[in-house]
Amino acid sequence: MGHRVKRRILSVVGARPNFMKVAPIARACTAYAEYIEHAICHTGQHYDYTMSQAFFEDLDLPEPLFYLGVGSGSHAEQTARIMLAFEPICTEWKPDLVIVVGDVNSTIACTLVAVKLGIQTAHVEAGLRSFDRTMPEEINRVATDALCDWLFCTEQSGVDNLLREGASPDRVFFVGNTMIDSLLAAMPKVEACTIRQELGLSRGGYAVVTLHRPSNVDDPIQLAELLEVLSDLSQRMPVVFPVHPRTQSNIEQFGLSARVTKAKQLLLIPPQRYVHFVALVRDAALVLTDSGGIQEETTVLGVPCITLRTTTERPSTIEYGTNVLVPPKRERITAAIEEVLAASPRSHQIPPLWDGHAAERIVRIIAERCLGINCIA
Ligand code: UD1
Repeated sequence: MGHRVKRRILSVVGARPNFMKVAPIARACTAYAEYIEHAICHTGQHYDYTMSQAFFEDLDLPEPLFYLGVGSGSHAEQTARIMLAFEPICTEWKPDLVIVVGDVNSTIACTLVAVKLGIQTAHVEAGLRSFDRTMPEEINRVATDALCDWLFCTEQSGVDNLLREGASPDRVFFVGNTMIDSLLAAMPKVEACTIRQELGLSRGGYAVVTLHRPSNVDDPIQLAELLEVLSDLSQRMPVVFPVHPRTQSNIEQFGLSARVTKAKQLLLIPPQRYVHFVALVRDAALVLTDSGGIQEETTVLGVPCITLRTTTERPSTIEYGTNVLVPPKRERITAAIEEVLAASPRSHQIPPLWDGHAAERIVRIIAERCLGINCIA
């Protein structure tokens, strides 16, 4: 590494929820531009325009220096293809540190490659645990945290989980939530966005839905049951449902399309770009979702969130925020909707350090502690 002046950081993005976590890190690195060269590697796990490119635009995320174009496949295929493509990037570009975020297949694949090449690795959003090992993301989280050198946590539960698993306390940092950095940074664009008006929706008068967990959408009976609930709810208020590609193809494959087109106020729309989606959520009466990140976004926006799962790896969204866990069964969801719509707005707090400055803390720690850069940035 001898005469290279700047230290190199390579951040990995792959799937939709990664983009908002890396954007603020890329921005925070510019404060260290004299010392740090930051680049992005996009594995191409997600590749549709609205699942990927539109997020770069909305988040002001710099163009990736490397694009691996791995696409979809089984878990083994996808993970293996990412590893094969990422290894030569590491050996040729020689990053001093690799940053991985979240819990997708790109996260574990790139961690495994970098660690074995002796490159320092940092995991952003470390320590979250649903304790449900049937979720592919849980396997990715546990394995990534076991391997990474530096562990950055969004909430106290992450710190507690890591320490209980034996992580060394001087490598675990509670820094806040970079997804919320992006949310707060996007607010001016969100304010200017007119998607709600274009869809003819009134403020506080509709529901937003997202579904893509394999446990909810890969089983025909389960998916049909959830679509029934949405159809019921749409009798009461418009229901906006940006449909994830996995869910879309299952609706078609299981022959459920007729069921959803029957419900007049059930609005199935393509996956939305970031600013549009946040604008829709911000003005919704309630959100029904099985996403991880949306539990966090609704917490900060103060919008009631019904999470259609039996576990969450983000308990602070329940402790502080507006989130409730509801098993994905028709009667249970219907009762929870009634409760939310009858209740006066629930008071909620913002979880500690979800203040828009998490990425600055992360980059400072990486610069000073991990890369040994002595500077006042
Ligand atoms: C992945 C992540 C999940 C994350 C989700 C967000 C893993 C294991 N899962 O799940 O944690 O919450 O992203 O969206 O990493 N497809 C397209 N266009 C795309 C991408 C995918 O049409 O741009 C289709 C393909 O048919 C693919 C399917 O969607 O087979 C699922 O994509 P995949 O990347 O396998 O997993 P996700 O369900 O998106």
